[in-house]
Amino acid sequence: MSILTLSGSPSVQSRSAHLLAHLRGELEAAGERTSHIDLRGLPAGPLLAARADDPAIAAAARAVAEAQVVVLATPVYKAAYSGLLKAFLDLLPQTGLRDKVVLPIATGGSLAHALAIDYALRPVLSALGSRQILPGIFAVDQQIEIDGTEPVRFDAALTLRLDEGVLRVREALARSRIDIPLEFVPVPPARRTAHAAVAQRCPA
Ligand SMILES: Cc1cc2nc3c(=O)[nH]c(=O)nc-3n(C[C@H](O)[C@H](O)[C@H](O)COP(=O)(O)O)c2cc1C
Repeated sequence: MSILTLSGSPSVQSRSAHLLAHLRGELEAAGERTSHIDLRGLPAGPLLAARADDPAIAAAARAVAEAQVVVLATPVYKAAYSGLLKAFLDLLPQTGLRDKVVLPIATGGSLAHALAIDYALRPVLSALGSRQILPGIFAVDQQIEIDGTEPVRFDAALTLRLDEGVLRVREALARSRIDIPLEFVPVPPARRTAHAAVAQRCPA
């Protein structure tokens, strides 16, 4: 298992989960292997009672341990991230994200909390030992159009950031496959350049 996506929203119709699903689709289309866990599907009692030995929670923690890249998505709640995500992260071992590349994604109702990934979530990911935390992707609700039909539509700026996220994840995977030190492979800033660079390094 290479890439694990984790959805931390308690909502059934979740904007952050839609971003995650889009990213997963793009990664799979590029030939990457992904798996997914919807944290709202974990048993609430054991999750709140910090029962790491619960079979479903233990299986989810194992999936994290086996992943090279973890992409996690959360709504902004009260200027931070969801309690559901925190409850799960609290059940991981102290260095549960050691050697992993993490891409954090958040959606919020207001641009005022666009930095929630950086001031609230990033320190937690860092404390869990992430090898590399990729630049986060934040979107406000208005950038995601849900009208009951599939696929959900994203505005152009968000689409571009999601594309960049896909490229960064693929770059990170390519680096780990050929063991190139992080500092020697810059991520090209422009979308077209980045597409070409990834296609060259890791043909699908
Ligand atoms: C309990 C609750 C608290 C929220 N707090 C904030 C907040 O502090 N800042 C913000 O920008 N949006 C806040 N929102 C809005 C959500 O972050 C936003 O609608 C998000 O896209 C929901 O993501 P989801 O659909 O994946 O659950 C809050 C929503 C709820 C239900």
